[in-house]
Amino acid sequence: MKTLATTTWRSPSNIAIIKYWGKKPNQIPQNPSLSFTLNECFTETSISLVPKESKDEELQLQFYFDKKENIAFRLRLLNFFASIQKDFKFLKDYGLVIHSANSFPHSSGIASSASAYSALAAALCDLEVQLKTGKKTNGKTLLEDKKWLKRASVFARLGSGSASRSLFPYASVWGASESIKGSSDEFAIGYESGLHKDFKTLRDSILIASSNEKKVSSRVGHSLMKGNPYANARYKQAHKNLASLKDALKTGDWEQFGAIAENEAMTLHALMMCSNPSFILMNAYTLSMIESIRNFRESSKIPVYFTLDAGPNIHLLYPAAYQKKVLEFADYELAAACEEGRMIHDYAGKGSVKVK
Ligand code: PMV
Repeated sequence: MKTLATTTWRSPSNIAIIKYWGKKPNQIPQNPSLSFTLNECFTETSISLVPKESKDEELQLQFYFDKKENIAFRLRLLNFFASIQKDFKFLKDYGLVIHSANSFPHSSGIASSASAYSALAAALCDLEVQLKTGKKTNGKTLLEDKKWLKRASVFARLGSGSASRSLFPYASVWGASESIKGSSDEFAIGYESGLHKDFKTLRDSILIASSNEKKVSSRVGHSLMKGNPYANARYKQAHKNLASLKDALKTGDWEQFGAIAENEAMTLHALMMCSNPSFILMNAYTLSMIESIRNFRESSKIPVYFTLDAGPNIHLLYPAAYQKKVLEFADYELAAACEEGRMIHDYAGKGSVKVK
């Protein structure tokens, strides 16, 4: 089959310090969020445009995950493409062949929607430029183009809210906030310039307490905020936490950073516990690891903190300068609580890239 245009993008996952939990229609967040971009956990996605076999078919799509055709993912993508077809008119003019793969195991309990949709959105926006100009593109030039980056973030967001934040180096903010200039509900903005140099060395060791499928999908989780009696207080708290996190990130204050990170994680889980129906997303291993981390911090005075996504796995956050000591502690005291001793050692990275 003749390929008419093609591109491959690699995009990382991210870990939110200020959490996005609760949304309005059209994937508009109820509160601003701030995350660090990871490096080792990424998705690589290539899209090739081929001649369309039948004009009758609205969208022609073949989807391969890990080199195998994947029908469930294909259906999900068809829905996504149908929803953005008016913005990417070329989608109906070509056949699409998409290959996607993750660097981390599918069943690791690590959310892949952020890396997947950011890689996909970057690839789509790249193809759009290629078709418009009739020229090959350069990934670095695209990423430096503010308008292009904004568009990629908008469409990543429409796939999965947190994906809007994955394109940027080191850290990013999504959601309008009075304290962050240029922030918007529609797209994320890079936040590298707001970071003290120490925060660029952030390490995130992901402690796998369970690799089981999530108990509750993000979609259901966000929707449960609608009936949650604490929702408004939570949205206010996120704004307040973001304003004080901003100071901590600027001055290099790990203690304040850690206090906010843990407060946000516990709030997210508390909200799920008191929603209707109620969900407990931690397991006994999560709780025992939290206890050990806090004890170790207290006795060693090492700035090591944790955050959690909407699941039982712990993200252990610390500066690179303490890596050796923290890893010794993790191997000695935390590995036993991890499923088959599994941990993924990641760190703040440079965001999405086009793969040559
Ligand atoms: O992007 P979604 O819809 O999968 O939601 C992500 C929600 C959290 O990971 C729990 C928090 C966040 O801001 O990433």
